Amino acid sequence: MATLPPSQRSANGDKALPRDFVVSQDVFELETEKIFNQSWLYVCRVSEISEASGLYRFELLNDHLFLALGEDGQLRAFRNYCRHRGSELVTPENCESMGSRIQCPYHAWTYDRSGKLLAAPNMMDAEGFESSEWGLNSVHCEVWHGFVFVHLGNPDDSLAEFLKPLAEHAVDWNFDQLVVAEELVYTVQANWKLIFQNYNECYHCPSVHPALNRLTPYKGATNDVASGPILGGPMKLADDCQTMSSDGNRVANFLPGLSDEQKRMVAYYTVFPGLFISPHPDYVLLHRIERASTGESRVVCQLLFHPGSIARTDFNPTAAVEFWDLTNRQDWRVCELAQRGIGDVTYEPGPYSNLESVVAAFDRHYRERMDQNHQNRQPIGFPCAD
Ligand code: FES
Ligand SMILES: [Fe+2]
Repeated sequence: MATLPPSQRSANGDKALPRDFVVSQDVFELETEKIFNQSWLYVCRVSEISEASGLYRFELLNDHLFLALGEDGQLRAFRNYCRHRGSELVTPENCESMGSRIQCPYHAWTYDRSGKLLAAPNMMDAEGFESSEWGLNSVHCEVWHGFVFVHLGNPDDSLAEFLKPLAEHAVDWNFDQLVVAEELVYTVQANWKLIFQNYNECYHCPSVHPALNRLTPYKGATNDVASGPILGGPMKLADDCQTMSSDGNRVANFLPGLSDEQKRMVAYYTVFPGLFISPHPDYVLLHRIERASTGESRVVCQLLFHPGSIARTDFNPTAAVEFWDLTNRQDWRVCELAQRGIGDVTYEPGPYSNLESVVAAFDRHYRERMDQNHQNRQPIGFPCAD
């Protein structure tokens, strides 16, 4: 097991995380055990599950999984392998066309949507074979306002309890009604934590994002959630600006039910360890962060709109998409510069400014999680826990 470097504190306050946290393979693997196997992990929006088959196939590094909507209306998550000889069950080719039964493409073992093994050709002759022992392996899956999360271990809290700090926003912004209208996908040559830390501060905004800084001046950033797994808060829009877009004008109607104050703000929240949620007056921006290696991450950025806006014949979100594509690329560039600089063997972390208090809060939560002892992950066997 890796030995973690000690916390670094200067006389004036917190310092950035030591170099090993960014470059060490041992730390990366320890994160899998301490964080990613022990957290609610965002997967997708309910609206992204195939309408035709009720399935959604996904991978979280070395965890290969799929979501299956049952005939009982229950969404479940399963390990994406057959209990016979391990063939992938839901593939890119069959994900849309799979019927109500999940049939393995190899020797045709067949499972129902609750994971129960229904048929295993010629296996009744096999000594001691009990089909009830060979259902699919499931993982915990819960839905919160249209967001699907899985948990690979045994959650301490329900998903709703975990996301409680965002409950008011979920209601005010009607998260459950919103659908994905646009998606941008990036490969970033930077550790996942550098991407989180960068999103958690606007110290870099004047130098890195001149256009963003004009729409939301960086000193207007506030934090209403300042510790724990969820961090962030609102920023006021400049007087002549309606939303975050290339010309500052709204690209859709106001989301229904927002107060006058909410119509004049953007909020930025990080949900540890894989999601950013940014409510705007006319849309909600999401970033899903996936680890690939110590020095590489995949980021999926989506813009969610109200169906009423999308249905309009003049719906055109281009100015928001272009604005965020530019801003994202500016962010990825500085994350990649940091990754490369921290790669130097003599790098020592420097002190945080007062504008980086949320980055320090992220580091604290991360360190707490890395220091915690958890029982080893037990795969949850059949029958799945609903
Ligand atoms: S591997 Fe699935 S039935 Fe043989
Ligand atoms: Fe940024």
